[in-house]
Amino acid sequence: MKILVINGPNLNMLGIREPDHYGRETYADLIAKIEKHCSAKGIEVKTYQSNHEGDLVDAIQSAYGKMDGIVINPGAYTHTSIAILDAVKSVAIPTVEVHISKVEEREDFRQISYVRLACVKTITGHGTDGYIEAIDYLAEGK
Ligand code: DQA
Repeated sequence: MKILVINGPNLNMLGIREPDHYGRETYADLIAKIEKHCSAKGIEVKTYQSNHEGDLVDAIQSAYGKMDGIVINPGAYTHTSIAILDAVKSVAIPTVEVHISKVEEREDFRQISYVRLACVKTITGHGTDGYIEAIDYLAEGK
């Protein structure tokens, strides 16, 4: 099982940015948590973060034929990017959308998710544990 975990803009600022929404764990903490979990479960994992929409599209395309699942938190591009939606549709790899915060209880502009239309599951408001739940869902179907 090979999983690609993609994080979009400002997620490299975890631990610094708006801790009330995103907690105190850093991006490095998140990656360490993901790698430890995957290593214990025998899952091959690759992680990627970018602040640039086209780079995220490139990362999704790069998974084609190589990865069995994608976990994606597109950050603010969730609410704007048809290109990311189209990329996930293009590769047709099972993809889980993750948001650290409870987006459904936040501003109106966060209520639209384009990428969700191509995702097999959405996890919101579970902090960084949401990434682990997403990985387990892809690996074990639960
Ligand atoms: C986020 C929620 C988005 O609305 C926001 O723009 C982010 C992070 C989350 O993980 O809760 O950057 O995707």
